[in-house]
Amino acid sequence: MKIAAADVATQDRGYTMAAGPLRIHVVDLEMFTARAEMRMWHDPAGLLDIGERQRSAMLASPFCAGPRTPMRLVAEQAGRVVGKGEFLPGRIWIGKHPHPVNWAAGLVVDPAYRGQGIATTLDRKRRAISSVFGACGASVQHARIYRRLGFHEISWQRYVRPCRARPVVRRYLGDHPAAKVLTPLAEAALATGRRAVAMLAPPRPRGLTLQPAGALPADLEPIVNGPSAFIRTDRSCPWFEWVLTHQFHPDPGNRQALHLVVEPDRQPVAWMLTRVRFHERASHRGFPDTLLGSVGDWGILEPRRLTWMGLLQLACDVLEGCGCDAIECCLPPGHRTRGLMRRLGFVPLGKLYGFMHFALGLGVDVGAHPPRTWAIRAADGDHFVS
Ligand SMILES: CC(C)(COP(=O)(O)OP(=O)(O)OC[C@H]1O[C@@H](n2cnc3c(N)ncnc32)[C@H](O)[C@@H]1OP(=O)(O)O)[C@@H](O)C(=O)NCCC(=O)NCCS
Repeated sequence: MKIAAADVATQDRGYTMAAGPLRIHVVDLEMFTARAEMRMWHDPAGLLDIGERQRSAMLASPFCAGPRTPMRLVAEQAGRVVGKGEFLPGRIWIGKHPHPVNWAAGLVVDPAYRGQGIATTLDRKRRAISSVFGACGASVQHARIYRRLGFHEISWQRYVRPCRARPVVRRYLGDHPAAKVLTPLAEAALATGRRAVAMLAPPRPRGLTLQPAGALPADLEPIVNGPSAFIRTDRSCPWFEWVLTHQFHPDPGNRQALHLVVEPDRQPVAWMLTRVRFHERASHRGFPDTLLGSVGDWGILEPRRLTWMGLLQLACDVLEGCGCDAIECCLPPGHRTRGLMRRLGFVPLGKLYGFMHFALGLGVDVGAHPPRTWAIRAADGDHFVS
């Protein structure tokens, strides 16, 4: 099998590479399925080994369009893998029309080769071969590259609600004997704070119940996947099925769930997608062994019956029931909270960054439809499943 496209990459800012030209190879679905790229170059840093879970999740995407679908780029220099980045095939709607989108996943450059423009070159190539290219949950350093390349930026405000004190105490005291005494005290303080917050919280939704759903019911698809915004990501039944049954990193504590909020007669008034992830080290502060719950996406079908805050309260019930140490929720731009997040015990904590690029031929008028109006959520790209 032959790798189809190899370019001698244009180097950023005129830097030259001592070990010869950098080549960027496109690995398509057929090659990726056969793992052809794993046998072609020397990969001392093991960059191409992404693990079985991620590989099979990517291959199972309902939006893989055929054997030529690009799945991965490999940056190679003198026969050695120096960087790579995957594509997760997805679907985005522009007006009434669906388009394939290549979501960025897993860009990594060999530490010995960083700061030479390899990631920038890979992203240029990812952009060049995609009619729509997007990223959800870019790292701070990667975000700088996307900005320099002129991608459209979306930022979601991240809110976090602490549920348990244990990870924080362990972060600062480790196994020190004082941690044994302090942990229950800190838990009690947190519980008191939560009771105080509950008194300020808006009234809880009445008469509605949560119903776990293994899949999106087909009769809801036209509404959930309806034209909510000019630019919006796909929310079809196949997308839900994929997102509910795949994850890149296995851990017994990890799970995703879809819940419907229903009336007593089972009529749905809202839906929500949540996930639980175990982190050996959570956040840049490195809280150890943390179970983090996230509200990935949601939709309210009956706004007169349920407010966004009511839905978030129900999502917190689900995630606290899973034993989460903290709950995060990333709100899209323009989402007005009117201070209510604090009344539910959430504090603002940084941002989640997303980036999009549309090929000129698509004629997307970003002036008429600016990024803050796009329905792209924290559940998009590889962010929810990774
Ligand atoms: C993030 C990561 C992919 C960047 O790779 P990289 O090849 O070092 O990135 P680049 O060289 O293109 O850009 C890095 C810096 O080098 C500078 N640079 C670009 N071209 C250069 C060149 N030819 N020579 C020297 N420096 C250059 C860039 O300006 C950039 O500066 P900045 O840090 O101020 O933004 C790499 O650090 C990595 O693998 N990190 C771990 C995984 C990760 O975080 N992945 C991102 C997931 S979202």
